[in-house]
Amino acid sequence: MLKHSPVAYNEQYGAYMVFRYDDVRSVFQDYKTFSSALYDGLSEELTFDSQIQALDHPRHTQLRALATHAFTPKAVADLEPRIRTIAGSLIDAMLTGQDIDFVKQFAVPFPVTVIAEMLGVPEKDFERFKHWSDIIVEISERLLTGQTEELPEHIAAYRDLKQYFQSLIHQRRTEPQNDLISRLAAAEADGEKLTDLEASNFCSLLLVTGNETTTNLLANLIRTFAEHPEQWKLLQRNRDLIPQAVEEVLRFRTPVQLMFRLVTKETEISGTKLSPGDRVAVFLGAANRDPAKFERPDVFDITRPSGPHLTFGHGIHFCLGAPLARLETSIALQVLLDRIEAFEIPAAEALEPLTSFNLLGLRKLPL
Ligand code: HEM
Repeated sequence: MLKHSPVAYNEQYGAYMVFRYDDVRSVFQDYKTFSSALYDGLSEELTFDSQIQALDHPRHTQLRALATHAFTPKAVADLEPRIRTIAGSLIDAMLTGQDIDFVKQFAVPFPVTVIAEMLGVPEKDFERFKHWSDIIVEISERLLTGQTEELPEHIAAYRDLKQYFQSLIHQRRTEPQNDLISRLAAAEADGEKLTDLEASNFCSLLLVTGNETTTNLLANLIRTFAEHPEQWKLLQRNRDLIPQAVEEVLRFRTPVQLMFRLVTKETEISGTKLSPGDRVAVFLGAANRDPAKFERPDVFDITRPSGPHLTFGHGIHFCLGAPLARLETSIALQVLLDRIEAFEIPAAEALEPLTSFNLLGLRKLPL
C-alpha cells in the first residue's frame, strides 16, 4: 500500500486511508484542512463535546492549556518516585504468583493507578475505571466505524462515569485538594470557569487515553522483547539504551494504529483529490514503518537512533500524555530489568490479541 496505493478508500471506515509517513504528518500538521470535530451530531447522552481531542482551534487550544502544566516532562518527572513504587509493588506481586499474565497483573493496573492518583480519585474506585475506560473505547470505536445505534448499557455506563466525575468536581470546588481534579475544577478558559460537564469530560478523556494506550504499549513491549531475546540481553548490558528501547517499541508496535480527520476544504494527498466532508484515516503504524523514512523498518533494533515516529501524533493534538507514557514505560523496564534475567511466552497461541480496529495490543500475555 505504501508504494502503490498510498491513499485508498475503505468502505468499512467510510474514509480514505493514508499510509505514507510524510502524508500522515502533513494531515496532522494542517489542522485547518483536516478537522478533529468528528463527533458532531451525537445524541446528548454520548456527547464528547469539549473533549479536546475532538475540538478544533481555538477552543482546543484554550482547553488544552488548562492541563498542559500537569503533563510537562518536569511535572511528570516529579512523579517518578511514586510511579516507581507502584511499578515495583505490582511486579513483585506478579512474580510471586504461579500463573503470570502480564496484561492482567501489570499492564492494566499500572497506568490506571498512576492516572487515578494524579486525578485524585479514591483508591477504592480504581477497579471501576477499567470498566468505564473499556466502555468508552468501545463507544468511540463503534461511532468511528459508523455503528451509530446506541447501546443502552454503554449509555448507562457513560452516564455513571460523567456523574461520578461531576460529583467529585463539585466537591473539589468547595474543598480543593492538591490534585488534577481540583485544578480542573478551578481552571478558567477564556476568562470563564469550566462547567462541571466540561471538567468531567476532561477527566474522562485523561482516564481513557491514559489507560488503554499505555496498557497496550506495555504489553507490546514485553511481547516484542520476548520475541527478540538478544535485544533484551543487550538492554541488560547497557541500560543507557532504555529511552531508545522505549521509542523503538513505540515505533515497531504502534499502540494506536489509526486516527480520523474530517476534510474541510478541497485538497489532495499523494495525487488523490479530497472534498469537504470526506473522512481520512491516517495509519500511524504504516507511517512508522515507511522505508522512505526508516531504514530496515521491519527490524526491531533498540540501537536505532530515536527517530521521529508518529506514535503520539503530531502538531496541535500531539499526545498530552506522551511524557507520562514514556516515563511509565522506562520505569517499568528498569524494574523488570532489576528483577528478571530472561522470560519467554509459553507459546505464540497463548497470546490473545485485541480485537480492535485501531488499537494494537494484547488481552492476555502469559509469561
Ligand atoms: C492525544 C497516542 C498515552 C492523553 C493522542 C494522540 C495520539 C495518542 C496518537 C493524537 C490524537 C489526534 O491527533 O487526534 C497515545 C499513546 C499513548 C498515549 C500511543 C501511550 C503509549 C497517553 C496518556 C495520556 C494521554 C498516558 C494522559 C494521561 C492524551 C490526550 C490527547 C492525546 C489528552 C489529546 C490531545 C489533544 O487533542 O490536544 N495520544 N497516547 N495519552 N493523548 Fe495520548
